[in-house]
Amino acid sequence: MREKIIVLDFGGQYNQLIARRVREMGVLSEIRPYTEPIAQWLTGEVRGIILTGGPNSVYAPDAPRTGKELLDAGVPVLGICYGMQLMNVLAGGEVSGAAVREYGHTDLTVRDGALFDGVSRATTVFMSHTDFVSRVPAGFRVNATTANCPAAAFSCPERKLYGVQFHPEVNHTAEGKKMLSNFVFGICGCEGGYRAGDRIDEMIARIREQVGDGRVVAGLSGGVDSSVACVLADRALKKGQLTCVFVDHGLLRLNEAEQVMETYHRNLGLDVVYADASERFLDALRGVTDPEKKRHIIGELFVRVFEEEARKIGADFLLQGTIYPDRIESGLGGSAVIKSHHNVGGFPEDSVFSKARLVEPLDTLFKDEVREVGERLGIPRDMVWRQPFPGPGLAVRCIGGITREKLDILRACDAIYLEELNNAGLSRQIWQSFAVLTGVNSVGVMGDGRTYDQVVALRAVVSDDAMTVEAAEIPYPVLKRTMTRIIGEVPGVNRVVYDITSKPPGPIEWE
Ligand code: XMP
Repeated sequence: MREKIIVLDFGGQYNQLIARRVREMGVLSEIRPYTEPIAQWLTGEVRGIILTGGPNSVYAPDAPRTGKELLDAGVPVLGICYGMQLMNVLAGGEVSGAAVREYGHTDLTVRDGALFDGVSRATTVFMSHTDFVSRVPAGFRVNATTANCPAAAFSCPERKLYGVQFHPEVNHTAEGKKMLSNFVFGICGCEGGYRAGDRIDEMIARIREQVGDGRVVAGLSGGVDSSVACVLADRALKKGQLTCVFVDHGLLRLNEAEQVMETYHRNLGLDVVYADASERFLDALRGVTDPEKKRHIIGELFVRVFEEEARKIGADFLLQGTIYPDRIESGLGGSAVIKSHHNVGGFPEDSVFSKARLVEPLDTLFKDEVREVGERLGIPRDMVWRQPFPGPGLAVRCIGGITREKLDILRACDAIYLEELNNAGLSRQIWQSFAVLTGVNSVGVMGDGRTYDQVVALRAVVSDDAMTVEAAEIPYPVLKRTMTRIIGEVPGVNRVVYDITSKPPGPIEWE
């Protein structure tokens, strides 16, 4: 029988990471909103439950809570941060507010307990809380402490209940993976062996079942998600059932449309319809400066263009490369605690493609799992490991209003930068790299004349998952060469700066 860990979502910012960590260990995990009745997900496959962190105080009137029966579900439960505090209160303990927040790297002293098997007695964990467990429930015992937190971990092994105040899922917790693995394997008794790549047949079967003899129009963007989704659909469906459309919204990088079309044809053998909608997109964006408005306009127009293509071929379904984080961040239908995902905004409610007409074969996979599936499907590594590129494209890298001229300048700078990074052999270590047209002009002198031209920012980040990033430490000579070339080769730019902001607080994109 298959095994599964449920991650019960109370709105914490690291919830996706918990599910990913469990999957990385080879065990399927699913995130569920706390609002959903337990009976809806507590099937025989469930081996354990993890209660996530969250921004609330457990005694607040609107705090997300579940009933006590959660603790008697018959499977082990691990509460993390808010999840531990909730478990504590449900089991009869007490939570108090501390005078100061405990935040960041914190020394943990471990006493005992199954969660800490093989973990050092003195280790570092990542804390982010103000409330703390001030009295543990009867039958519970404290397993670890920090200077400010008398119960940094507790457990009641007889009832298979465990709690940690810190976040084992983030990398800053040095031995966090070991602790999670102790829970998943040692305490829940999971066996492992889950791999996303093994789900290809299941995904293909799902597409066939949903689509039947219908016709599907697919949006290809050149990115890994839509490419993998299209190759899956191509395997699942008969000739003539699938039409892939590449919409050129005029917001692509230099020569990108040609390269993408060529790659699909040559490497994947997919016949792709090229829909040049750049005029329409640029018209719709004229004078728009608000980033959210830009996203919304682009998202909506995308779907309209697909609808038109679908009508031309009489398609009944729209195939999309939606992945699990897109769904989680948009609320998983029901959880009130998560904010709507900025990447998904713009799907028009009145689209002819109702929910039932959307084919989303990757909607339970994380990005690294999509890549694994892509490799198993034989998609070339270059495509599978392409840098992510935002759906709204250069629109969110061209600050302020968008014009063809500004886009051309941005494209030229971006191409020079990427070429220099490539020449220096740096591209592989970088999660994303790009130029931004900042919308700021600065005074300069070129030749003997005064200039008042645009400032271009260069950004390059390293990351595992786009959730936390650091600015890449690009060697200075590479930056200098890029600057010299941009100012020399791109009219209209007279200053180049490098963005060193990490995330948090600064997202990867500027808008
Ligand atoms: P941020 O800027 O939030 O971006 O750190 C995280 C990742 O998401 C990409 N991104 C987008 N992708 N539509 C997309 O399809 C969007 O509106 C969008 N905004 C950001 C960004 O490139 C990075 O990989």
